[in-house]
Amino acid sequence: MTTDATGDTGTTGDRDDGRPVEIGRKPRPHGPATVAVTAGRPPPVPDGPLNVPVVFASALHAGGVVGYARDGNPTWTPFEETLAALEGGGAGLAFASGMAAIAAVLELLPVGAPVVHLDHGYTGTRELLATAPAGRWEPRPVDICDTDATSAACAGAALLWLESPTNPLMEVADLRALIAGAHRQGALVAIDNTFATPLVQRPLDLGADVAVYSATKLLAGHSDVVLGATVTRDEDLTHRLAQHRRLHGAIPGPMETFLALRGMRSLALRIDRAQANAATLAERLSEHPDVSRVRYPGLPADPGHERARCQMDGFGAMVSFDVVGGAPAAEAAARSTRLIVHATSLGGIETTMERRAKYALEAGTPPGLVRLSVGCEDVEDLWDDLVHALRIGRLAAAVVPSATGG
Ligand SMILES: Cc1ncc(COP(=O)(O)O)c(C=O)c1O
Repeated sequence: MTTDATGDTGTTGDRDDGRPVEIGRKPRPHGPATVAVTAGRPPPVPDGPLNVPVVFASALHAGGVVGYARDGNPTWTPFEETLAALEGGGAGLAFASGMAAIAAVLELLPVGAPVVHLDHGYTGTRELLATAPAGRWEPRPVDICDTDATSAACAGAALLWLESPTNPLMEVADLRALIAGAHRQGALVAIDNTFATPLVQRPLDLGADVAVYSATKLLAGHSDVVLGATVTRDEDLTHRLAQHRRLHGAIPGPMETFLALRGMRSLALRIDRAQANAATLAERLSEHPDVSRVRYPGLPADPGHERARCQMDGFGAMVSFDVVGGAPAAEAAARSTRLIVHATSLGGIETTMERRAKYALEAGTPPGLVRLSVGCEDVEDLWDDLVHALRIGRLAAAVVPSATGG
């Protein structure tokens, strides 16, 4: 037994594979970047791969616990384990897409179940609730920034559905208060944490029952995968979600989970860089004469700043801003970038932007709002491109009234 300068005791010994290890040290939990890099690895085997390779299979030899490939695939597991570990514990489930994960949570509810949900949120969730056969759910749209009104709407509700920050208005809800209010009234709480990722916000630690992800976005991070996921700490909920996935067939492809895990290995690096870029761009945009409002909780003047500081480990890499000149100016700006990709997605390593109202009708989205998903390029290059695009936008807005106004 040895004692080091910190007082920890340690004994050196040998592992089965012959490599010396120190044992007896006080275990310190790994930090999130380490978890992202190492979780879900198979046990080391000489000459074995560090990560689980892609397993393409539909038929499996009989006699095992999985049985059939719609019930499980070895390539799903390390993705699910890594996501759950980043969440701080629980069970992860991969789904065919973010929407498949969202639908799975909602479809666990009985027919007619009241669902309190944010009115200014991702359009797919709202559309799913609104277009379901009459009576499937009882949607109760609310302004989740209004904590009292949201809690009041939870009376008799089966589920409170949240996003924070919201897509695309970047509003921040008081998650602890809303979750506690919903639970007091017997409602489950689901949080779509796509914008934050578990590196920036951990819904289960804040008390939510289920965290939902479009892994298509920041988790996979390279704009080449469509994938979704849930994480829960409730065994029964996990079991019912897995059963739903199996019976509705909303299963992921093995290649998608492989690529998503590969992307997650560098999530901490990408998030750090993208957040730093987002903060710089948000600050500069807020002083730009062609921008009337910047929506980014990292700005001290943002209405969501204090709440974000209390419940997030950063402010994320999404920035929305309103362009002076409205839709024509925003549209022209989005079309005329040279580096930033004009596309309706988010969370890639590359920066993308769109005039949001062109692609989705999220309630309350101003026609001239641009949603910017900030990536990992050099920030000065991004800024030059934005300045150029806003100049084109201003010129277009100046031309449009005379071209159409006759
Ligand atoms: C916040 C949010 N949740 C869920 C989804 C749906 O994810 P997917 O496209 O993977 O189905 C999206 C897609 O843009 C999103 O932005």
